[in-house]
Formats: sequence, C-alpha cells, structure tokens
Amino acid sequence: MVTNRTFTMLKPDAIEKGHIGAILEKINASGFRIVALKLTEMTKADAETFYAVHNERPFFGELVEYMTRGPIVAAVLEKENAVEDFRALIGATNPADAADGTIRKLYAASIGENAVHGSDSDENVAIESAFHFSGRELF
Ligand code: PPS
Repeated sequence: MVTNRTFTMLKPDAIEKGHIGAILEKINASGFRIVALKLTEMTKADAETFYAVHNERPFFGELVEYMTRGPIVAAVLEKENAVEDFRALIGATNPADAADGTIRKLYAASIGENAVHGSDSDENVAIESAFHFSGRELF
C-alpha cells in the first residue's frame, strides 16, 4: 500500500554545521508538509535497534558511533508519493554520486556522514516514525 508519508532524520553532521534551517526550507519548498518534528538524540541502543538490518555490514560500528555523537532532527513528512520523492530529493547515499541540487550533494561530506536519512519503504516509514514519535506528536 502506498501512503503519503515518509520519515527523515537530519543527522549529527548536518546539525553540527548549522544546516537545520536550510534543509527544512528545502524540504518545505519541495512540497513536503511537516507533520511531526523534534530535536532529539539516539542512544547507542537506539541506533543499534534503528539500524539493526545493517548490523552485519562492515560500517555498522561507525554508523552507530556517528548517529549517537550529537543531536539529530527527526521528522515525519507528508506529500503524495512521499517515500520515492523524498529519496529523490536527498540524492544517492554517497554524496559523490548524488545529483546536483539534492540535499546530500549540497550538505553532505561523505558516505559515512551523509547529512540526512529517508525511509526506503512504506513499511519502514511506519516502523521508523513510531520509533521516534507517539501518535499525539503527529499532526
Ligand atoms: S540505503 O539508503 O539503505 O539504500 O543505503 P545503504 O547503502 O544500504 O546504507 C544503509 C545505511 O548505512 C549508511 N551507510 C554507511 N555508513 C557509514 N559508512 C558507509 N560506508 C556507509 N554506507 C552506507 C547509509 O547512510 C544508510 O543510512 P541511512 O540513515 O539509512 O541513510
């Protein structure tokens, strides 16, 4: 089933570099409505759970360390075809491969510090949104 929501995190490098405002502006300008938003942080256990599907990958330890080194911004976004359109807006996982104008091309430094997360399926939107937000935090 295709829904009209996606889940995103602005990752610690984006917050450290002061890019929250610029990235949220680009998200809004691209037609997404913010339906939930918070500055928060992930514990090691949170990050290990959130990224559990990748726990056999060689970069898993680095990914957990990176995602727990400082605050993140978590958000739920609404737009028709949200998952696919948001993945297009953020660009390829490796910013070196990301198209011009995408968020990762503009704001990410490397594949290990790529500024932003976007859910890859409607199933994961539901899981990842519930990880960070209660029902009453969704508007
Ligand atoms: S994706 O977006 O799931 O298709 O990309 P994938 O390549 O499977 O990556 C899954 C998440 O792992 C992060 N990643 C890495 N972190 C550190 N080092 C390396 N080399 C690396 N490669 C991938 C990638 O940013 C994905 O995180 P999220 O938060 O899902 O974007």
